[in-house]
Amino acid sequence: MQKLDRRTFIQQMGTLSVLACLPGAVLAQIVSRVPPQGLFDADSTAEQVTAGLDLAGKTYAITGANSGLGYETMRVLALRGARVIGIARTMDKAEEACSSVQGQTTPAFLDLADFESVVNCASMIRGMDMPLDGLICNAGVMALPERELVYGMEKQFVVNHLGHFILVNQLMDTVMAAPQGRIVLLSSRAHQRAPREGILFDDLAFEHREYDSWTAYGHSKLANALCSRELARRLSGTSTTSNSVHPGVINTNLGRHMPWYIQWAGKLLGWTFMKTVEEGAATQTYVATSPGLAGVNGYYFADCNPDPGETPQMQDDAMAGRLWQLSQELTRDYLPTPTTIPA
Ligand SMILES: NC(=O)c1ccc[n+]([C@@H]2O[C@H](COP(=O)([O-])OP(=O)(O)OC[C@H]3O[C@@H](n4cnc5c(N)ncnc54)[C@H](OP(=O)(O)O)[C@@H]3O)[C@@H](O)[C@H]2O)c1
Repeated sequence: MQKLDRRTFIQQMGTLSVLACLPGAVLAQIVSRVPPQGLFDADSTAEQVTAGLDLAGKTYAITGANSGLGYETMRVLALRGARVIGIARTMDKAEEACSSVQGQTTPAFLDLADFESVVNCASMIRGMDMPLDGLICNAGVMALPERELVYGMEKQFVVNHLGHFILVNQLMDTVMAAPQGRIVLLSSRAHQRAPREGILFDDLAFEHREYDSWTAYGHSKLANALCSRELARRLSGTSTTSNSVHPGVINTNLGRHMPWYIQWAGKLLGWTFMKTVEEGAATQTYVATSPGLAGVNGYYFADCNPDPGETPQMQDDAMAGRLWQLSQELTRDYLPTPTTIPA
């Protein structure tokens, strides 16, 4: 593994000190949009990608903070001095997770399948009256065995995409108030399992096709990546950035809906081909914090690097724009007016 050497570290710190003194608009103009390659890789952990970083004075919010990658990300951000708003599905879960890590954490809760609760959570965070340096949309459900509907749509699309779409819109002014705020959306390589035609604009309930749990999960993860891409387009020319992430394959509670024998095989043999949770949390932690990624906007990262494995669907700007518009229509009653997100 290529570790962060002393020279790179000094360069990054130097860049950070200079950038921190600049107004956001100037920052957006001058910073290279091309991410550095190869500083870290699939074996890097969240602690390694933040080694030497002092995040004191920065605030991050992360969904799914009570479990798996979200918990590890919160732990490491707090370890590096950041204030972390740890969002879970219930206040009890959020409090338990927050109180079990060192550092400054604030519990919050939402159910991404209940849009009113997303709005309430965002309003509580806005009430804290501090800019958000990063919003990490990490919570998710995978491979629900039966088709479940929420608001008349397939549940994974609602939880993984639409719930986060509302949260991002509701907190955008708070992120844009930071010198270089970052939105990080958890996608997955499973986006490759989305339907061949991409987003099912005319069948979000999976009514007119046979339901397949992986196709529906892939569909929701394609939506995460396309949403990040369209947001990046809208944010270009500002100091705020949007990127999406594939964390790797990691044995977490995400597999809870899979057949028992697959879960069992994962526990027994997962170590041979899966990342650890510490490694799985690295890419999102890196994208949310690395000084070298200031101004890097509109990329899909895997193993702490821009991923060349994007499918053509993920690069489909027309589909991304159409998804954004449809998502706005579907969640209109829960979005702030006027929106701070540029058109
Ligand atoms: N693990 C992998 O191999 C892998 C691969 C690719 C992408 N990802 C992505 O990485 C992210 C984190 O996954 P993970 O592996 O850390 O899974 P995890 O341990 O199961 O964590 C998922 C988190 O999402 C929360 N969540 C689920 N439904 C929710 C809802 N309706 N409202 C609010 N929160 C909800 C869960 O809360 P509860 O604990 O209350 O259920 C939990 O905190 C997901 O977006 C996933 O798609 C993971």
